[in-house]
Amino acid sequence: MNIAVIGTGYVGLTTAISFAIRGHDVTCLDVDHAKIEQLKNGILPIYEPQMDDAFRQVQEQHPIRFTSSVQDVAQDHPLYFLCVGTPSDTNGKADLTYVIEAIDTLKERIPVSNDHKAVVLKSTVPIGTASRVAKLLSVREDLIVVSNPEFLREGSALVDSLHPSRIVIGTQSAEAKSLMDEVYANFQAPVLYTTWNNAEMIKYASNAFLATKISFMNELARLCERVGADITMVAQGMGLDSRIGGEFLRAGIGYGGSCFPKDTAALVTVAHDHQVELSIVERAMRVNQSQTEWFLQKLNVDDGDWHGKKIAILGLSFKPDTDDIREAPSLAILKQLTGVGAKLVTYDPVASYHVRRLYPAVTYVSTPYEALDQANVAILVTEWKELVELDWTRVHSIMKSPVLLDGRNVWPVEELRALGFEYTGVGR
Ligand code: NAD
Ligand code: UGA
Repeated sequence: MNIAVIGTGYVGLTTAISFAIRGHDVTCLDVDHAKIEQLKNGILPIYEPQMDDAFRQVQEQHPIRFTSSVQDVAQDHPLYFLCVGTPSDTNGKADLTYVIEAIDTLKERIPVSNDHKAVVLKSTVPIGTASRVAKLLSVREDLIVVSNPEFLREGSALVDSLHPSRIVIGTQSAEAKSLMDEVYANFQAPVLYTTWNNAEMIKYASNAFLATKISFMNELARLCERVGADITMVAQGMGLDSRIGGEFLRAGIGYGGSCFPKDTAALVTVAHDHQVELSIVERAMRVNQSQTEWFLQKLNVDDGDWHGKKIAILGLSFKPDTDDIREAPSLAILKQLTGVGAKLVTYDPVASYHVRRLYPAVTYVSTPYEALDQANVAILVTEWKELVELDWTRVHSIMKSPVLLDGRNVWPVEELRALGFEYTGVGR
C-alpha cells in the first residue's frame, strides 16, 4: 500500500521503517527541512538500537521517500498516518497545534477523489480529538478519520513497532476498517476495533496506569526505608502474582520521557474539563515530581560542604538505549545540584550532546571512569548496561571516597559492600 507518514520523530520514523519492512511503500513528510535532508542522506536523527541497520537495509531494498514538500505526499496515498508531536502546554493540556496544522494542510492539499482515504491519528491525542478532526474534515467526504494510538517504547521502538502488544483501531467506517486490515495484514498482534473515544482513552489509560504503578512503588520505597524492607525483594514477591505482573515495579528516581509526564498531565486536564477528579493519577504525578528531590536528600546537599568536591553523574537520557532527554530525571538532578558548590561531571554514551546545551557549565566526559576519577560520590541516574557492569575494583581504586548512590537499584549491593563501598539505593 502507499502510505504517507506525517512527522518523522521517534514514532513517525519507527512507523515508516516498520511499514517498509512489512512491504508497504512509504513517503515521509516533515516540516523540519534539516531533518529531511539528514534522512535523505541516510542519517537517522535519533538514537535507537537496531534502527540504523534496519534503516540502511530498508533504504537499499525498499526505500522510504523523504520530503518536506506537501505536494509530494498529497497524491496517490490511501493512508495518511499523523505522527506529529502533542507536547504539554503551560497548563498541562495536550497542545494540538501541530495536529491541527497538519490536518488543515491535508484538507487543502489532498486532491478530492472518489476513493476513500484514511487520515490516521497515531499521535497521542486527548479524548474527543478524532471527533474534532472529523468536524474539521467534514467538507471532505473522501477523508475518513481513524484513531490508531501507538504503544512503542523508546529503546525498543522498532521491535515494539514490528511486534506490537496490540493494535487498537478506532473507527466505525467499513472502508477505513478494510484499509487498516490491509495495513496490518503482515503484523502478528491482537487487533481491537473500537470507537474513536475508546481508542484515545485506551492510550491515555495505559500510560497513566504504568506511571501510577511506578509511583506506587516509589512511594512504597520511602516506607521500605523506614521499616527496614527492601523494595526490590518486595517487587519480586509482588510480581510473582500474575494479577499484579512483574513489570513496571522498579522503584528509582522517578519516571521521565516524552510521554508519561505529559500524558498523565493531559489526562488530568481532560478529567477537569469534565468535572471529574482523577485523584490517583494526580497523586502519581506528585510522587514523581518529588522523587528526585527525595532521592537527593540522601546526599545531604543542604547540610554538607560541597565546595571543591566532585560528583559523578552517570547516565543522562531518561532511560537506557535512547538519546532522548525529555523530562529526564537527570535534568532535575542537575538543576538541584547546580549551585551547591561541587564540580559536576557527567557521562552518558549518547545523550551528553543534548544536555550540554542546557547545562554548559557541567563537565561532560567520554568514559564512566573519567567521571568517577577522584569523585567524592557517584550517582547512577540511567541504567545503561555499561554503567551497570562497571569494573568495581577499578572504580574503588579511582574514587576519592567510595560513596555510591544507586538511583535505579541495579548495582550489586552485596559485592559493593564487600569491596568497601558505602552503597545507598532506593527503598532498600
Ligand atoms: P517528535 O517530537 O520526536 O516528532 C514529531 C515530528 O513531527 C517532528 O519531526 C516535527 O518536525 C514534525 N512535525 C510537526 N508538525 C508537522 C507538520 N505539520 N507536518 C509534518 N511534520 C510535522 O515526537 P514523537 O516522540 O515522535 O511523538 C509523536 C507523537 O506520538 C506524540 O503525540 C507522542 O505522544 C506519541 N507517542 C510517542 C512515543 C515515543 O516513544 N516517543 C510513543 C508513543 C506515542
Ligand atoms: C512509555 C510506554 O511504556 C509506552 O508503551 C508508550 O507508547 C510510550 O511511553 C509513549 O506513549 O510514549 P517510554 O516512555 O519510551 O514508553 O519508556 P518506558 O520504558 O515506559 O519508561 C518510562 C520511564 O519510566 C523511564 O524513565 C523509566 O526509567 C521509568 N521506569 C520504567 C521506572 O522508573 N520503573 C519501571 O519499573 C519502569
